[in-house]
Amino acid sequence: MLFESNLKSLKKVYQGKVRDIYEVDEQHWLIVTSDRLSAFDVVLPDPIPKKGMVLTTVSNFWFDRFSSKVKNHLSDINLEDIIKDGQELEIIKDRSVIVRKLKALPFEAIVRGYVIGSGWKEYQNTGSICGVALPPNLKQAQQLESPIFTPSTKAAVGDHDENVNFDKIIDLVGKEIAESVRDLSIEIYKQAAEYALQCGIIIADTKFEFGLDENNEIVLIDEALTPDSSRFWPKDTYQAGTSPKSYDKQYVRDYLETLDWNKKAPGPNLPQDIIDNTSMKYLEACERLTGIKL
Ligand SMILES: Nc1ncnc2c1ncn2[C@@H]1O[C@H](COP(=O)(O)OP(=O)(O)O)[C@@H](O)[C@H]1O
Ligand SMILES: [Mg+2]
Repeated sequence: MLFESNLKSLKKVYQGKVRDIYEVDEQHWLIVTSDRLSAFDVVLPDPIPKKGMVLTTVSNFWFDRFSSKVKNHLSDINLEDIIKDGQELEIIKDRSVIVRKLKALPFEAIVRGYVIGSGWKEYQNTGSICGVALPPNLKQAQQLESPIFTPSTKAAVGDHDENVNFDKIIDLVGKEIAESVRDLSIEIYKQAAEYALQCGIIIADTKFEFGLDENNEIVLIDEALTPDSSRFWPKDTYQAGTSPKSYDKQYVRDYLETLDWNKKAPGPNLPQDIIDNTSMKYLEACERLTGIKL
């Protein structure tokens, strides 16, 4: 279990909610994915065993699967060549990647195949999500006829992200990049969702992050199609009109909703059974998708 990495051999340059980032050289970072869980944008005090390994394994699986469709941030530098300390290597080896540092595009590329969460709320209020008009009388968790692109702008630390219209994305990065990112996101989501369904998992929605490389080419960064960046539902119990069970942190969110907590830091401790069940859900999603038993 790893709540926070503190490598001696490299300089930590950033600590996100889940990831610790170290400088490798001018062009590269080492990203260590911890077992921290953030819910409602607050990092909870209890780590979830093996969660960081799951996120790393699942992301790497998709990066590889879609490598002919989209470039990704993984570099070919070996971890062993960077981390010489055997003990440090042992702690981080199954949860680390060495990546190209890229200029992150200033929005989250969200694709929704089902109407749920903030999208469901927005639909109930306006009949649309991020300016995309939807048919009337959709039920909660209903599948959309075709997946939609519903970007959000990344908030500063401590703030919640904000759903925006596609025009806002054009303002931010120009029409050409905006359209490429949209089309690429929808295409990858569709293919991933189709594959996942065969593994018994519905990917209801997902969030991608992209960067630009030195040739202004679009590169998939951060994590991809994980239970943290997506809603994963078990196919066999799914029913439109009801709030689905899930393989992701929705399970923890549901528990947190039963507490009298104002959703501001510090977050509450989790009971042991919630920690264990959450870990099992992450591990099961990983095994179903990648075949890897961690
Ligand atoms: N290859 C990359 N180049 C630049 N930024 C990246 C890259 N991969 C990930 N990131 C950024 O690093 C951070 C990852 O840490 P994370 O814990 O997920 O942070 P956050 O709390 O912002 O979600 C994110 O801000 C993500 O946008
Ligand atoms: Mg993140």
